[in-house]
Amino acid sequence: MPRSGLVRPVLAILLTLAIARGALGQDHDVPYFPTPQPAVEKMLEMAGIKSGDFLIDLGSGDGRIPITAAKRHGIRALGVDLDPALNEQARAAAVRENVSDKVTFREQDLFDTDLSEATVITLFLLGSVNMKLRPRLMALKPGTRILSYGWSMGEWKPDATAQIDGRTIHMWIVRGGATTSPSITD
Ligand SMILES: C[S@@+](CC[C@H](N)C(=O)[O-])C[C@H]1O[C@@H](n2cnc3c(N)ncnc32)[C@H](O)[C@@H]1O
Repeated sequence: MPRSGLVRPVLAILLTLAIARGALGQDHDVPYFPTPQPAVEKMLEMAGIKSGDFLIDLGSGDGRIPITAAKRHGIRALGVDLDPALNEQARAAAVRENVSDKVTFREQDLFDTDLSEATVITLFLLGSVNMKLRPRLMALKPGTRILSYGWSMGEWKPDATAQIDGRTIHMWIVRGGATTSPSITD
């Protein structure tokens, strides 16, 4: 292809990337897409939620996971999301569902979120984002359950996997010190 013939496709690629970044928002690592409600319930069932658990949903969207955890299982939950409009929607839903005393929605980058108090963490992100989070997740306190809708965590083998409507849910249980895959090198 003559050199001038490359200009148009290169410009098209750059424009597409710029539009995608703009649509995602400057710092958003993942676009918004809600977990279907049956999958939310399956994730919470797999986690074996018990009284005293504290759930954090990283990238909480409309808040359905923390709200369902509080409403169905009576636990405290936190959702963090960079999108202020989604956080507003989530807070309004928490009021409607009478769980605003149990759930909090915070406008915050998931990579800056303190996870140390969590006993259950839920994710519907991307494989690459899961991998970036993985070292921090593996270092959480023993017994912490991590559930991911749709995406795995590389060679960190899940403790349980379920299928729902053609999508996969994985769960890992943090072992502390050693993990289920002690040989992992990232
Ligand atoms: C696929 S949606 C999942 C929403 C919700 N967890 C659910 O399962 O229904 C991903 C969410 O992550 C949010 N997000 C993307 N990058 C983020 C970041 N760096 N920090 C916090 N939230 C982020 C998006 O705004 C979006 O709402």
